[in-house]
Amino acid sequence: MADYDVIIIGSGPGGYVCAIRCAQLGLKTACIEGRETLGGTCLNVGCIPSKALLHASHSYHEATHNFTKMGLMGKAPSVDMAKMIEYKAGVVDQNTKGIEFLFKKNKIDRIQGWAKITGKGEVTVGDQVYKAKNIVIATGSEPSSLPGVEVDEKTVVTSTGALELTKVPKSMVVIGAGVIGLEMGSVYARLGAEVTVIEFLDHVTPGMDAEISKTFQRSLKKQGLKFIMGAAVQSATVKNSKAKITYKLRKDNSEATLDADVVLVATGRKPFTDGLGLEDMGVVKTDRGQIATEGWKTNIEGIWAIGDVITGPMLAHKAEDEGIAVAETIAGQHGHVNYGIIPGVIYTAPEVASVGATEEQLKEDGRAYKVGKFTFMGNARAKAIFAGEGFVKILADATTDRILGCHLMGPFAGELIHEVCVAMEFGASAEDLARTCHAHPTFSEAMREAALACGDGAIHS
Ligand code: NAI
Repeated sequence: MADYDVIIIGSGPGGYVCAIRCAQLGLKTACIEGRETLGGTCLNVGCIPSKALLHASHSYHEATHNFTKMGLMGKAPSVDMAKMIEYKAGVVDQNTKGIEFLFKKNKIDRIQGWAKITGKGEVTVGDQVYKAKNIVIATGSEPSSLPGVEVDEKTVVTSTGALELTKVPKSMVVIGAGVIGLEMGSVYARLGAEVTVIEFLDHVTPGMDAEISKTFQRSLKKQGLKFIMGAAVQSATVKNSKAKITYKLRKDNSEATLDADVVLVATGRKPFTDGLGLEDMGVVKTDRGQIATEGWKTNIEGIWAIGDVITGPMLAHKAEDEGIAVAETIAGQHGHVNYGIIPGVIYTAPEVASVGATEEQLKEDGRAYKVGKFTFMGNARAKAIFAGEGFVKILADATTDRILGCHLMGPFAGELIHEVCVAMEFGASAEDLARTCHAHPTFSEAMREAALACGDGAIHS
C-alpha cells in the first residue's frame, strides 16, 4: 500500500498548483521541496520579486518624469536600494507563506529536502523513503550558462543576483534581449544605470510578432537602453569588481570589448533535473535535455512531468495549467491544456502581451488573414496617464473572421490580453469582440477598436 497517491517533486507554480488540485480531487498528496520556502523560482527569485522591482522602479520613473506634469510638485524621491530590496523580500515572504497556508488548508504534506527517485513509486529524501502510486516531476529550470562567462552573482549575475544588488550600478551590460534581459534591464535603466543590451539576433524578444518587437525596441531605446544587435558575447571577466565583456559582431566577425559594473546573463534557461536519479531510472529525455513526455507521462509508468522540465514555453502559467491537467488525469478525469492559447507577457512599461499566431507564423502557414490595428493614442484613458505609446493588433481569419492571434504593447497589456484569450477559447470572431459593449473610458476599448478595425474600421482612428 502506497504512502501517497501522488508525490510531487518541486513546489513552483507547476508543482504547488498540481498538489492543490490533487488534494481537491481527494488524492493523498505530498510535495517535496529542496528550498526552505515554497513557490519555486517564480515566487522566490523570478516572476514575483521582479514584479516588485518593476513596480518600484516604475513608480520612481513616474515620480521623476510625470508628477510635475500633473501639478504634483516637490522634491522627487531618491533611490534607497537596500530598502527596495527589503520591500521585495517582504513581497516574496507574503507569497511563499501564502502557499504554506494553502498546503495546510488542503492537507498536503510538505516534505523539505532534495528528492531522488530511487525505484518504481519510490522517492528518497536524505535517508527517508516515501512511497507513491504517482510521482510528478515539477523541478523547473535554472539559468543556462554561457561559455567564457563565469557567474559570481555579484558582478556577473543571473536574474537571481540581479534581484539582490545592493546598489544601482553605474553601468550594466545585459547579455540577451529576451524577457529577463529586458525586464531587469529596464528596472536598472529607470533607477539610473546606463544599460547596454547585447543580443545575438537582429531583433529583440525572439518569437514575438515582428512589428511589436520593433516598436518595443524603439520604446526601450527612448527610455535610454542601448542595444548592440547581431553580436555574440564571447566572454565576461571580472577584475577588481569590474567586468570586461568581449563580443563578436556577426556581420564582419570583428571583436570588441565593453566595461561594466554589473553584467546580467539572460541567455535562456535549461531544465533542472540534477540529482533526481533519472538516468538510473531510465527516464528518456529530448536532445535539448527536457524530460520527454506524452500527455505529461514519461516513458516510466507512474512518473509524470510538467512545467519547465518538459517541452513548451517556460512560463509559470503554462506549468500551472499542466499541474491541474496532470492532477485531473491521475484522478481519472480528462486533463487538458490548450497550448494554442497561452498568453505571453513582458512586464516592462509599456507592457507587451501576445497570444496565438503571429503574422509571421500565419504567412509561413499560407493562411489568409486580416489585420485590425488600433493605437493607444486614440484611447482617451491611455492619454490621460501619459500611456498613448503602442498599439493593439488583432489577427483574424480572412474568411471566417475567427480570431487567430493578438499582439499589443501598451498600458496594462498583460491584463487586456485575457479578453482575447477568452474570446479565442470560445472560437469568437473579431466581430464578436467588436460587438461586445466595453465600458468607457477604459484601456479595454482599444481591444474593441482593434477588433472593429478587422471589419469596417475603428471609430477613433
Ligand atoms: P530568452 O530565451 O527569452 O532570451 C535569451 C536571448 O539571449 C535570446 O534573444 C538569444 O538570442 C540571446 N543570446 C543567447 N546567447 C547569446 C550570446 N552569446 N550573446 C548575445 N546574445 C545571446 O531567455 P531569458 O530572457 O533568459 O528567459 C528565460 C526563460 O524565462 C524564457 O523562456 C522566458 O519566457 C522566461 N521568462 C518569462 C518571463 C515572463 O513571462 N514575463 C519573465 C522572465 C523569464
